[in-house]
Amino acid sequence: MKLSIATISSLAILSVTSALPTSLTARASDSCPANALSCSSTAGGSCCSPTNGLLLLVQQWVKGFGPDDSFTMHGLWPDTCSGGQTGNNGCDSSRQYDDLESILQSNQTLYKDMTTYWPSYKGASNNGDFWSHEWGKHGTCVSTLAPKCYSDFKKNQDVYDYFGTALQLREKYDLYSILNKAKITPGGSYSAKDFESAIESAVGVKPKVTCSGSDLEEVWIYFNVKNSNQYVPTDSVDDSTCNGSINYPTK
Ligand SMILES: *[C@@H]1O[C@H](CO)[C@@H](O)[C@H](O)[C@H]1NC(C)=O
Ligand SMILES: *[C@@H]1O[C@H](CO)[C@@H](O)[C@H](O)[C@H]1NC(C)=O
Repeated sequence: MKLSIATISSLAILSVTSALPTSLTARASDSCPANALSCSSTAGGSCCSPTNGLLLLVQQWVKGFGPDDSFTMHGLWPDTCSGGQTGNNGCDSSRQYDDLESILQSNQTLYKDMTTYWPSYKGASNNGDFWSHEWGKHGTCVSTLAPKCYSDFKKNQDVYDYFGTALQLREKYDLYSILNKAKITPGGSYSAKDFESAIESAVGVKPKVTCSGSDLEEVWIYFNVKNSNQYVPTDSVDDSTCNGSINYPTK
């Protein structure tokens, strides 16, 4: 018997799929091209990797908010592959929720991390509005989180996965620790070049650092995504906005 091409390739896909983490096999991604990055020509369909395939992890340094030794989250933003924004209205009007605070309260582990690491700089009473905005404008544009991409979608799982993934990335790319290891600590002023290279050598790609005047504001790390939810850092497509030196205040 001659094996058809289709049989051979489905066998290859099966063996690759079985090596992937269970979180992924639970997703409807069995037919995705393994390890194909978003924005590449082999990326596959919208459940394989985000179609808005340049993901920005945006962490902020806001005096008075979050732990003294942690950056906090602004957002996880899927941009178009050419670096354009997806627009104010998000990508799925049927999944715009205005009660994100109560949705997240129904997952207490996640909610606790949200209040610690994703506080609104307008104060705790604004947290729900801030999170609703981030979900509606950005979360709904992560195509791999569409309910059709799950083999067994449960209510709010898209929301939990979006914020849960972003918080895991924040922990993995813990900027305070990265800078601390390079002896860049709050309370000092540092050359923009040193500040950026400390992050670049730890993460392996060029970040975008933004300032308000000479004060540190945000650090953006860019990613492509493979196997539906594995984030791979890539160079920033945009320039940092800090000039000369960066003031990194204590919280
Ligand atoms: C709560 O959110 C976390 C983070 O995304 C997720 O891993 C976990 O499965 C969620 N819990 C429930 C009960 O859905
Ligand atoms: C840095 O300098 C550029 C060019 O002079 C200016 O447009 C920009 O606003 C400055 N950035 C900050 C954060 O001051």
